[in-house]
Amino acid sequence: MDRLIDRHRAVLPNWLALYYADPIEIVHANGRRVTDANGKTYLDFFAGILTNALGYDVPEISDAVRKQLDTGILHTSTLYLIRSQVELAEEIARLSGIPDAKVFFTNSGTEANETALMLATQYRRSNQVLAMRNSYHGRAFATVGVTGNRGWAASALSPVRVSYVHGGYPFRSPFRGLPDADYIAACVADLEDVLQTTTAGDVACMIAEPIQGVGGFTTPPDGLYGAFAEVLARHGILFISDEVQTGWGRTGTHFWGIQAHGVVPDMMTFAKGLGNGLAIGGVVARREIMDCLTANSISTFGGNPVATVGARAVLDFVREHDLQGNADRLGTRLLSGLRDISDRHPIVGDVRGKGLMVGIELVEPDGRTPAPAAAARVLEETRARGLLVGKGGLHNNVLRLAPPMTLTSEELEEALGILGDSIATVSSGEGN
Ligand SMILES: Cc1ncc(COP(=O)(O)O)c(C=O)c1O
Repeated sequence: MDRLIDRHRAVLPNWLALYYADPIEIVHANGRRVTDANGKTYLDFFAGILTNALGYDVPEISDAVRKQLDTGILHTSTLYLIRSQVELAEEIARLSGIPDAKVFFTNSGTEANETALMLATQYRRSNQVLAMRNSYHGRAFATVGVTGNRGWAASALSPVRVSYVHGGYPFRSPFRGLPDADYIAACVADLEDVLQTTTAGDVACMIAEPIQGVGGFTTPPDGLYGAFAEVLARHGILFISDEVQTGWGRTGTHFWGIQAHGVVPDMMTFAKGLGNGLAIGGVVARREIMDCLTANSISTFGGNPVATVGARAVLDFVREHDLQGNADRLGTRLLSGLRDISDRHPIVGDVRGKGLMVGIELVEPDGRTPAPAAAARVLEETRARGLLVGKGGLHNNVLRLAPPMTLTSEELEEALGILGDSIATVSSGEGN
């Protein structure tokens, strides 16, 4: 048994899904291109699940990390002052727009959301939480507890009591097709109803992804969460924006996804793109919320010197190269190119997203029934043509495009060509 896939299956959990009938091992990468163990090179439009925000082999990041390694220090613990951690916290607090904010660093998005939920439930002395249907917030008990997607809900055990709200997924919403203002009004009415009928009133918080990631890059109308926040504020309910996928300018129009909704949340959580592959996540929150815990709490590795030095270099790069602007410009072209493809192929039920976070929902000829097998086939077709894309959604029928934010127009056109050909092949029934 010396094939890596067999060794993987023998020793790693069954529930750790691999892409492709014949999975890929990536052994080398540069820019937006990765090379597998067979020497085949691909344009990467999923970027380690939105984590390689700048792409691969970025000298500014490698140099910053190397300089830290040269000090001989990989880790000291938060028992001692860590200059790069303080400086990164100062920067994120400032960028957050949350007045008088404080930051706590973790190693992942799950831990970031667990922390935010602990803060909210302690601050409000309530275990009641509102989450969105079709959400994903992580893999530990509180975060699975607020995950509204059966495919990612591995356990019903939960420290929080959660009520789910409509609105995050317009394409499959009961309010589908309404003009934006009416859609928002219907979702606000649902939120009021959920509060009246499924909670004891003293709810701790709402947690939401501005664009649902695992849920298939579902994109509600701008302003939805601002309208929700007005209701929440009336009840003293805190609002947490999960920016694990939407942060750092990826949505193009804004630095944080939630800014499209005209609301400054009480807390934001982040991870993925911040470290460009280094393990870092965290929470940025209003000071009195962050400081509300009455016991010690520590993350041994959270905000360690290597991760925070790297993350600072990532943020500098994002701003110095205006990657948000690049995501905005290229995202507009990506959406319009995909809408042209969609016009040619009824298998495409919906094209949505913002910036370099774009989803393509595949459907049966009735325009509604999810087509997960077609999505799996498109994934194989794109791979064969040298393009890696992601997949997700409640029904596993959504292609997810999220290239590094350093993408060039030439690379974008190349990807559009491959996607067009791949979707054409699958919709014509070839490539089965
Ligand atoms: C929106 C969102 N929140 C939280 C998480 C969990 O992050 P992690 O896998 O780093 O624990 C994810 C991961 O995909 C995510 O997409």
